[in-house]
Amino acid sequence: MKQHELQQLIDKLEACRSLSKGEYTALITGFDAELSEYLFDKARRIRHSRYGHDVYVRGLIEFTNYCKNDCLYCGIRRSNKRAERYRLTENEIMECCKEGYALGFRTFVLQGGEDPFYTDEKIISVIQRIKAQYPDCAVTLSIGEREHESYQAFFDAGADRYLLRHETASKSHYERLHPKELSFEHRINCLYDLKSIGFQVGCGFMVGSPFQTPENLAEDMLFLSRLRPDMVGIGPFIAHHDTPFSDKPNGALELTLFMLGLIRLTLPYVLLPSTTALGTIHPRGRELGILAGANVVMPNLSPVSVRKKYMLYDNKICTGDESAECRNCLEMRMRSIGYQVVTARGDVKRDTV
Ligand code: 5AD
Ligand code: FES
Repeated sequence: MKQHELQQLIDKLEACRSLSKGEYTALITGFDAELSEYLFDKARRIRHSRYGHDVYVRGLIEFTNYCKNDCLYCGIRRSNKRAERYRLTENEIMECCKEGYALGFRTFVLQGGEDPFYTDEKIISVIQRIKAQYPDCAVTLSIGEREHESYQAFFDAGADRYLLRHETASKSHYERLHPKELSFEHRINCLYDLKSIGFQVGCGFMVGSPFQTPENLAEDMLFLSRLRPDMVGIGPFIAHHDTPFSDKPNGALELTLFMLGLIRLTLPYVLLPSTTALGTIHPRGRELGILAGANVVMPNLSPVSVRKKYMLYDNKICTGDESAECRNCLEMRMRSIGYQVVTARGDVKRDTV
């Protein structure tokens, strides 16, 4: 398709907030630098009309790298015997929150592998403690697939949000990224469950994951339109040397940015992080993500002693930096492009202009 036709598709997406699978595919296969700028300009305008130049920060606490799953792309998969495993205690998690609160974080994201040690009771206890001590903060969980009753209990305990990337909206592609015992349907059902319970829900996918086609990415966009999540986390696939995908190429910066722009036009209200993976494949990746329409950053609040152990992929940034350093670093980075990090819960704004 010619560039002006692709521009017209972007105009259509801006007006209708959705495209067909074929139209998304045409954009994803045909985009170039000029079309990207055309898209990002619109994406920024939409983002500014809802969220201004504010960038929300989430304090990410990676509290366990034990995982019972064996996703082929992930560095903390159970078959990776070289991963040094750790768990933070409840008190250590509270210490992270204390430090984070002083640094201005008003959302804490508890992220971990699927670790059976962390039973529902233990998770509930952590949620209740954080909410009791910091009633003005949001608690976000990112601990994978659990049953409806567990999710309900977490919500009742006070958790506000839940992140569960769908990874890919194509069943056949999902099955090439995961071992047989993981079910595409179960993962998607979890997202609808979480939504029906009342969580602010985040899904998401990797860009450039092995075997991914442009059609798969188009399916991801259609899935976003169906689910209408509050948050969408995307980042480039990055190979981890101790996984079956060690020799697969990394996802591309340009395509990841282009997908961020498409997501902003499709879901104008969405909370969209500029991810650590984006910052890992390019020194200014997170700034470029914000300029493509993202409005959230998620610096690490985990103790420095464990950071290198939460290696989902190779060369992950910020593993040697104190929380305060990351907070300041991001503040400067955002300021350098005309945005400001804000101290706010940063809830989704679905209903404004
Ligand atoms: N490259 C990029 N992202 C990855 N994730 C896991 N492994 C990798 C990798 N090798 C992402 C997955 C997961 C999130 C926590 O991190 O999308 O949902
Ligand atoms: Fe961690 Fe820059 S954000 S050091």
